[in-house]
Amino acid sequence: MAKKLAVVGAGLMGAGIAQVSAQAGYEVVLRDVTDEALARGRSGIAASYEKFVAKGKMTAEDAEAALARITTTTDLDAAADADLVVEAVFERIEVKQEIFRTLDRLVGDDTVLASNTSAIPITKIAAVTERPERVVGTHFFSPVPLMQLCELVRGYKTSDETLARAREFAESTGKTCVVVNRDVAGFVTTRLISALVVEAVKLYESGVASAEDIDTACKLGFGHAMGPLATTDLTGVDILLHATGNIYTESQDEKFAPPEIMRRMVDAGDLGRKSGQGFYTY
Ligand SMILES: NC(=O)c1ccc[n+]([C@@H]2O[C@H](COP(=O)([O-])OP(=O)(O)OC[C@H]3O[C@@H](n4cnc5c(N)ncnc54)[C@H](O)[C@@H]3O)[C@@H](O)[C@H]2O)c1
Repeated sequence: MAKKLAVVGAGLMGAGIAQVSAQAGYEVVLRDVTDEALARGRSGIAASYEKFVAKGKMTAEDAEAALARITTTTDLDAAADADLVVEAVFERIEVKQEIFRTLDRLVGDDTVLASNTSAIPITKIAAVTERPERVVGTHFFSPVPLMQLCELVRGYKTSDETLARAREFAESTGKTCVVVNRDVAGFVTTRLISALVVEAVKLYESGVASAEDIDTACKLGFGHAMGPLATTDLTGVDILLHATGNIYTESQDEKFAPPEIMRRMVDAGDLGRKSGQGFYTY
């Protein structure tokens, strides 16, 4: 089992992946571009462990030991001896490609490079490296410590061995994996949620139904735990705008074209829960 893990990006997802990995026994190097982002990531992890301890789901000793397995750094070179690197930076292809180009030069030949992207084709990220067969998608869900799913994504050249190593890693953190065999934009999960969100936003934008009623229809009619507009607010309007925009650009399928109101909400800073205002007020 890969025991040394590097996580690039200490935001919501990177911190969550570092948290569950350290809990599973990995030595984790967590890298971000600023000390502030790292401090935020680390204190979020510590607070989450504390909650698990308070609920009796983890002992205080295990929480302390897990936290001690996480080191933070702004230096990407610290990833050099990792067996596996998971990238979880902003959903921008050029940012991810630059990181993969650098990591490819930095890490050992056998190291697997994984991306947590929700919608960017793994093949496009893998193509900037000399190791496309050892690049894979490990798409965790938010909040990582609570959500059970990890969507494993094969790029065009991802090898069976790499997929198996990614599965072993994700399963060792307690996740259940689904495999996306063809690297379509948005994979399976983001494609499904994007199609639902785009249609929900269109219904809301054109006044067919209120946000509350659209969400209630999905919850009570389909048994969804949360409606699509509340999900958008939780995930971030900006994140879903990028995700649907990427799928639309890639597929040229009109059903993924982001409705204009999503752009205006992002322009106005209404990003959902994190800004206090989205389709709902928080
Ligand atoms: N938020 C979600 O619900 C969710 C779910 C699944 C997948 N994802 C995907 O996970 C990835 C991360 O999303 P997030 O919500 O954690 O974003 P976020 O904005 O919370 O965090 C991104 C972090 O990356 C850092 N970063 C930017 N450039 C960097 C670099 N060159 N090196 C190191 N760190 C850098 C930023 O400082 C920030 O801390 C994205 O690809 C996103 O699509 C997000």
